[in-house]
Amino acid sequence: MIIKILGSAAGGGFPQWNCNCSNCADVRNGAPGFTARTQSSLAVSRDGKDWVLLNASPDLRKQINDTPELGAQSSGGLRNSPIKAAVLTNGDVDHISGLINLREMEPLAVYGSDRVLTVLAQNSIFNVLNSEKVVRRELKLGEPTKLSGTEAMLGITVEAFPVPGKVALYLEDASKGADFGTVEGDTIGLKITDTETGKYFFYVPGCADLDAPLARRLEGAALVFFDGTLFDDNEMIDAGLSAKTGKRMGHISMSGPEGSIAAFEKLGVARKVYVHINNSNPVLNENSDARKEAEAAGWSIGYDGMEIRI
Ligand code: MLT
Ligand code: MN
Ligand code: ZN
Repeated sequence: MIIKILGSAAGGGFPQWNCNCSNCADVRNGAPGFTARTQSSLAVSRDGKDWVLLNASPDLRKQINDTPELGAQSSGGLRNSPIKAAVLTNGDVDHISGLINLREMEPLAVYGSDRVLTVLAQNSIFNVLNSEKVVRRELKLGEPTKLSGTEAMLGITVEAFPVPGKVALYLEDASKGADFGTVEGDTIGLKITDTETGKYFFYVPGCADLDAPLARRLEGAALVFFDGTLFDDNEMIDAGLSAKTGKRMGHISMSGPEGSIAAFEKLGVARKVYVHINNSNPVLNENSDARKEAEAAGWSIGYDGMEIRI
């Protein structure tokens, strides 16, 4: 199975269009140790020909143009696409809005939880994906599903499972209490298995807490892509960027006793890669102490174009 990080940044990307924080200013100015990143998405393929998107980023057009395998193929017809399916892990803007890029009458299968498919159904702009060509399929939580495009099987099995998280920002309902009306299925993680070889990895780009069921699930895995939004729960507040903590945004932080670095310490995961990295995160500076701390704990900081084969 071939796995490519198309976009390693969180919502807003790196640099973020309106942000003049030190990270964004440095990457904009080409400072050494900083690399620009597009918004959150992976692509997976069993054979290098047919591809599955894991989330559809607002930067998908650029990501396709930067990844020749994903664009129209000279061996195909006048119009063709190797992207046969997309699997969505939540309803966030950075994970669903790229679907709109895929509107040119190509066959596609879109998979998501019931909650996320409801978001698509309630936002009529997604009807630009012509229903004669694009099917929407529910991923039942806890049930392995063999992915297929609109025609052929793709050789990839996906199991979606709920993880601690939060409903999408634009769907928050303050009248519904501290969790803003979040329900199961608003944020899912994915176990992606090569149907033939049985090799698998996990993709959890948004996660508020590594609770016991999630820790049990990830234990001993060969490869996990995990929520790397913030390094410190207060970093957006400390930098004067926002009044929100990571917890308030539904994201576990990397550092500290409750952070993901500590939580993964005993899980025996062979390869750990941070994705969905917010532009405020000091690990984006290759020369920072935060970067050294994460790498010393065995983490890779995901970057656009990173490829892993299992
Ligand atoms: C998040 O990951 O918290 C969201 O993508 C935030 C947003 O919608 O900007
Ligand atoms: Mn996000
Ligand atoms: Zn910034």
